[in-house]
Amino acid sequence: MNSLKKIIFVFALFAVLVACQDNSKPNYQYMPNMYEPVGYETYEKVDFLPSSMEARLPAEGSVNRGWLPYRYENTPEGKELSRLMTSPLDSSQSEANLLKGGELYNIYCMICHGSNGNGKGWLVEREKILGVPSYADAARNITVGTTFHTIQYGLNSMGSYASQMNTEEMWQVSEYVMSLKEKL
Ligand code: HEC
Repeated sequence: MNSLKKIIFVFALFAVLVACQDNSKPNYQYMPNMYEPVGYETYEKVDFLPSSMEARLPAEGSVNRGWLPYRYENTPEGKELSRLMTSPLDSSQSEANLLKGGELYNIYCMICHGSNGNGKGWLVEREKILGVPSYADAARNITVGTTFHTIQYGLNSMGSYASQMNTEEMWQVSEYVMSLKEKL
């Protein structure tokens, strides 16, 4: 008798579950996390185009992972203020930072500035670009801060590298540039 009750109970439960099924919408979600994203909703509906989606803009004030907001503006005054910045990187890791900075320098900068920073990279030798200075150029008197500033914003025919490197990498390259300047 007891087992008959159990069988009836299981059967009834099954009947209830099946009876509630509605094929027009998602049904029981035993593990809702698998259906409903818990992280970020990166797309949203477009108002004026029904059934279309577009990527959402990041919330105002968002900061990309790995990037820190840069406080100085791309103006002559901003550049002068950047002159006083010192590298925030751990000086006990200087060797590793210079190694990484050197790798990145050879990827992004060497083509114009030359492997030793004298301003005679391949593009200059082949007369594809003009006016690339030596890092030792006294009139420019570059510091690790102005180098970071220049990588951040670019300067005339030199583009910005802020979209290729994160903040730490830009400092590593800046430290490497200063090490080249010392040897020129
Ligand atoms: C396409 C060629 C090119 C590349 C690549 C390039 N630069 Fe330059 N760079 C220039 C030119 C040209 C100038 C001079 C711009 C001017 O004064 O008008 C310059 C100037 C500079 C200066 C001097 C800025 C000052 O204060 O006067 C620094 C420092 C510098 N670049 C660093 C770098 C670093 C670091 C990279 C790599 C991340 C890099 N450059 C990549 C062409 C380049």
